[in-house]
Formats: sequence, structure tokens, C-alpha cells
Amino acid sequence: MKIPIKKWYESVQTRYSQQKYMSREIKPFTLKALEKNIKDLNEVYDEVRLKIYKNSITEILPALNGKYGNFTDSPAFMVIIIKSTGEHHWTKAGYIGEAAVLEATAHGLGTCWIGARFEPSKTNVNIEMEAGERLAAVTPLGYSSESYNITRHFISKLFPHRDRKSLDELCPDGYNKDWPGWVKNAIKTASSAPSRLNRQPWQFFYGDNRIVVDCKGKSSAYKRLECGIALLHIEIGALDGGAEGRVEFGEMGIASFIKEGEK
Ligand SMILES: Cc1cc2nc3c(=O)[nH]c(=O)nc-3n(C[C@H](O)[C@H](O)[C@H](O)COP(=O)(O)O)c2cc1C
Repeated sequence: MKIPIKKWYESVQTRYSQQKYMSREIKPFTLKALEKNIKDLNEVYDEVRLKIYKNSITEILPALNGKYGNFTDSPAFMVIIIKSTGEHHWTKAGYIGEAAVLEATAHGLGTCWIGARFEPSKTNVNIEMEAGERLAAVTPLGYSSESYNITRHFISKLFPHRDRKSLDELCPDGYNKDWPGWVKNAIKTASSAPSRLNRQPWQFFYGDNRIVVDCKGKSSAYKRLECGIALLHIEIGALDGGAEGRVEFGEMGIASFIKEGEK
């Protein structure tokens, strides 16, 4: 996937999960631009597609099993749909879904991943799905309520790593300060990825120009999705750190970023 490095690297720094939204509609120009981004992302893998609905997130929440927190109405939401039973479909859903989240962030929109089993009969919104498709996650889209946003921003400036695992925890074979800059930037960028209840169920290994992303503990569908989110952050950080390369699903761990050639 072609990564707009600076734009998404910036989005990684400014993205927070937002539960509170203004009632304000998304500007037509912004929505159109985001829809174009999503059209492009839908071309990347056969296994995943995204779609925006101009309905409030609160209209679909009752159809999602579980506890979500206290969401206010949003002018729109996006669904992340897994299209097939392909081998790495959950990881790709995380990878592509997070790409859309970072695009939305770049457009000034708030987001929040919500993943759960979907019961279509419990919502009036008609989420069109073909046989074999499955809704993996949703996110509200809208302008976050400002006071909430400012507080979050302020707290994060005061305590930048308040709620993230240490680099030693993220790299169980040891984090080496002498690793190349692109590797350290990749791992730092991945550490701010979103995950359910902020569990950060991933770990990273580096060697031979490859950063491997793997699940911590037993793998599950949603852990693989979250590792897909972390993989995109790894790739953005690696590219921002000057590496050129590509992602690979499977082979080692859940997925890897492999540095190729010399810049
Ligand atoms: C797959 C997934 C599901 C999530 N589900 C919820 C949810 O149901 N409700 C919620 O408020 N946040 C949800 N989150 C957001 C996390 O709570 C959030 O990413 C984490 O606490 C870190 O905070 P941050 O995203 O602001 O950095 C989810 C995140 C992911 C990746």
C-alpha cells in the first residue's frame, strides 16, 4: 500500500479514541475527500472493504454485542467489513481500517474503533453485506467535542507515555538502543496504536532488516486485527525513519515489515 508518510505519521501523534461528538455535520468537501480515500483503500486487499454511513454511531451500537462506553451522536460512522475467509483477513482488516482512521484524523475528524459481534436485526441502519461477509468493527466519524479533545491533548502533552507499555515490554527479546533509527522510530510509532481496553496485545522482534509483529499470548481474531493496526504503525514509523520496504503477512509471527535496498 502506498503510504502518505508525513500525513499519517502526524495523524499517529494526534489520534485519540473519541466518544463525544459535536452534532455538526461533516463538511461536504471533507466527506468527499474521505470517501475517495476509502475507495482507494478498498482496492488494496480483496479481503477487506470499508463504507461510510451518514447515520449516528448510536444507531448501530445496539446491534453490537458488549459494552462500549458512553458515545454521543455522531454525524456518520464507518464500517470495516471482512469479505472473505482469506488467511490473513483479520490482520488486513486492522491494517486497512487503521489507514482509514488515520486519513479521517488528517481530515480533522474524531474516530474510535469499536469491534464486536454484529446482530443486524438490532439496528434500523441497513448495512448491506453479501454472503460470507462479516462486520469486524465500526468507528464513529465526526468533529469531537472540543473541551474533551483539549483535555485529552493537554493530558497527553503532560504524560506522553502515561498509558503505553514500555519499550522493554514491547520487545520481549530486549530493546536495543543501538538498533537503527528506523527500527526505533517504528516501534515508538507502534506503541501509540489503539487496542481494546488499551491492552496492546502485540510484541515486536527485530533482526535481519525485519520487524516482526506477533500476538502476545494466544492469538484470537481481534488480537490479529489489533496486530494489523500495529503493523501499519510499524510501517509508517519505519518509512518516516528513512527505511524503504514492504509488509508481509504470515511467514514469521503475524506479519512483518521488511526493509529492502539502501536509501
Ligand atoms: C478493536 C478495538 C475495539 C475497541 N473498542 C472500543 C469500545 O468498544 N469502546 C471504546 O470506547 N473504545 C474502544 N476502543 C478504543 C480503545 O479503548 C483505545 O484505543 C485505547 O484505550 C487507547 O486509547 P487511544 O485510542 O485514545 O490511544 C477499541 C479499540 C480497538 C482497537
